[in-house]
Amino acid sequence: MKNTIVTQDLRSLCRAAMNRPGGILFLTGAGISAESGIPTFRGAEGYWTIGSTEYRPQELATQAAFRRMPWGIWAWYLYRRGVCRRADPNPAHRAVVEAETALGDRFLLITQNVDGLHRRAGSSADRTYEIHGNIELMRCAADCTTARWPIPDGVPDLGKGDELSAEAQALLVCPRCGAGARPHVLWFDESYDEERFRWNSSIDAAERAALVIIVGTSARTTLPWNVVEIAARAGATLIDVNLEDNPFGDIAAKRGAVVREPAALAVPEIVEHLVG
Ligand code: APR
Repeated sequence: MKNTIVTQDLRSLCRAAMNRPGGILFLTGAGISAESGIPTFRGAEGYWTIGSTEYRPQELATQAAFRRMPWGIWAWYLYRRGVCRRADPNPAHRAVVEAETALGDRFLLITQNVDGLHRRAGSSADRTYEIHGNIELMRCAADCTTARWPIPDGVPDLGKGDELSAEAQALLVCPRCGAGARPHVLWFDESYDEERFRWNSSIDAAERAALVIIVGTSARTTLPWNVVEIAARAGATLIDVNLEDNPFGDIAAKRGAVVREPAALAVPEIVEHLVG
């Protein structure tokens, strides 16, 4: 594991980025919510490592699986929603809100997390791109519209392996066309777009970034890779906060800094350098 960069260098990196034009982007993954008690995806207790009792993990997060067993997939997401609801934002989420408040239009948060903790911490809807969706929302499974709706209150959180009641199933319908509704999350056999997942807006922001602070991601999905590579090519400084080395850390080591500390410790320190 690489040694953490000394504070002074981190401070001068942040100050230098603040003193030149361009956006300040936070790109977050499951690692920022790990200290809130939400499992990551690929960690030892991760959702993709453990999955459900019967299915290989990734099989669950697909449109194909939803078509085959909609109520089984709904039950799994309502179990995960319960886990997210029982968790609270941590100092890293709160520091990101502090950065938004101080930086205004220069600030943008691009998160892979569907757990909703950034929004619950106070991150604004305008400057938060939830590029993999949000576990509190549903949309039309027949795609009659790209609109999203909160999952109706009558649909309960479930325990692991619990099944959804007929009453709850009856509530999971598209308010516009009456077809079935589906969780608003991006599945492995689906593609990003602008309307629902802010693809173009994220790419645009990467092209204009002065600094990208990457927090708690293993660098396994497409849009984050595009954001990091485009920002690096455009001359942005990159800071990678993670407990472990990862491909984004290798890029950040050449273009900025690598911080191998827990997010709840490192992110408030970085924000202090940015706005303090
Ligand atoms: N502080 C900082 N980093 C942490 C912490 C922590 N406390 N705990 C774990 N991490 C790091 C891990 O080392 C790992 O690199 O967070 C990363 C989590 O990686 P994944 O579990 O792969 O999650 P993520 O990168 O967000 O997954 C991306 O993949 O499965 C899809 O849609 C899903 O949004 C998800 C996407």
